[in-house]
Amino acid sequence: KKVVLAYSGGLDTSIILKWLQTTYACEVVTFTADLGQGEELEPARKKAELLGIKPENIFIEDLREEFVRDYVFPMFRANAQYEGLYLLGTSIARPLIAKRQIEIARKVGADAVCHGATGKGNDQVRFELAYYALEPNIKIIAPWREWDLTSRTRLIEFAEQNQIPIAKDKRGEAPFSVDANLLHTSSEGKVLEDPAVEVPDYVFSRTLSPEQAPDTPTYVTIGFEKGDAVSVDGVQLTPAALLTKLNELGRANGIGRLDLVENRFVGMKSRGMYETPGGTILLLAHRGIESVTLDRGAAHLKDELMPRYAELIYNGFWFAPEREMLQALIDKSQEFVTGWVRLKLYKGGVHIVGRDSPYSLYDQELVTFEEGAVAYDHRDAAGFIRLNALRLRTYGARTRKLGG
Ligand code: ARG
Ligand code: SIN
Repeated sequence: KKVVLAYSGGLDTSIILKWLQTTYACEVVTFTADLGQGEELEPARKKAELLGIKPENIFIEDLREEFVRDYVFPMFRANAQYEGLYLLGTSIARPLIAKRQIEIARKVGADAVCHGATGKGNDQVRFELAYYALEPNIKIIAPWREWDLTSRTRLIEFAEQNQIPIAKDKRGEAPFSVDANLLHTSSEGKVLEDPAVEVPDYVFSRTLSPEQAPDTPTYVTIGFEKGDAVSVDGVQLTPAALLTKLNELGRANGIGRLDLVENRFVGMKSRGMYETPGGTILLLAHRGIESVTLDRGAAHLKDELMPRYAELIYNGFWFAPEREMLQALIDKSQEFVTGWVRLKLYKGGVHIVGRDSPYSLYDQELVTFEEGAVAYDHRDAAGFIRLNALRLRTYGARTRKLGG
């Protein structure tokens, strides 16, 4: 009877809105979130009103700070990268959108939620796993898996029959599919589908190409507290303002482009182009501050667990107990990850050039090639090597005996 729709204001979700009203004959509540996608939200309100949504049923919220503070930053504490490269910009946004949808559903007494993800991708899984985790008996409507508007022509027909305004450039097939927020912009499908073919320039929307970037490097200093970035060049910034600042620096220096073939949770491989300018800087900076503040055992343990944690986020298990367990471990590791990292940004590259912390474990006295500290006696190394070599010598002796 009442459904909360994740509504972007674009053509597809506008068609979904109308389709819900006609097919399900239910009252539609729209939820539009600002996650930093860089689009005006007021047009979405106008459009929803135009499609007959009552003002009290239109929810528009700025979630940028919550997104970065409670989702992006916790994930960056883990240095999470899916399949070694992907910074999970879309994956990490879905749980927040789903959470707010469920909260709104409770508030307005809706019994269903609806999203606009297709039946072939990861996003449907992420939305729905989050809905179910937070509201076990919620009813979910996934129009792309249900309706018969299976071609662009039928979609456009449906839009015209229902007086849904269609922008000129939306009449034909869009040349590729985009998802954007403060952390990244991803482009997939259509012109990008052949992974052998280089991505055309017009796909990029938030980075200069490294070739166009300035010929002189930009230096930046990022301050960290307990694993989270808190300042840029000495200026304290809120999480969203900080990521925005890093995005500007990354854009100008051509940083954060990634052409990736990845394994979707639903089984197929897909090729995407990602632009994650600020996130790419932040990841390296975080590794830089960890390098002086984390003990080796702690650092290596969290690195072993990282692929598992990244996969959980990619697959949509943000609200699963094992993700929360890993998060507790990761957060604990960040207790002394405080200090600063200085970086050089140059033509698509990010390079650490300096770092320090009041809690640094780096001991120059201990490591120096010059006359060093008493805590380390060179002669101890001989026994250390001899004992570690013992089993290698035993193994080697057998190999030799067998003629190896
Ligand atoms: N492949 C990415 C992921 O699964 C992005 C998906 C959404 N992107 C898009 N262009 N529709 O997280
Ligand atoms: C979609 O299918 O809606 C976008 C791509 C994905 O979810 O993987």
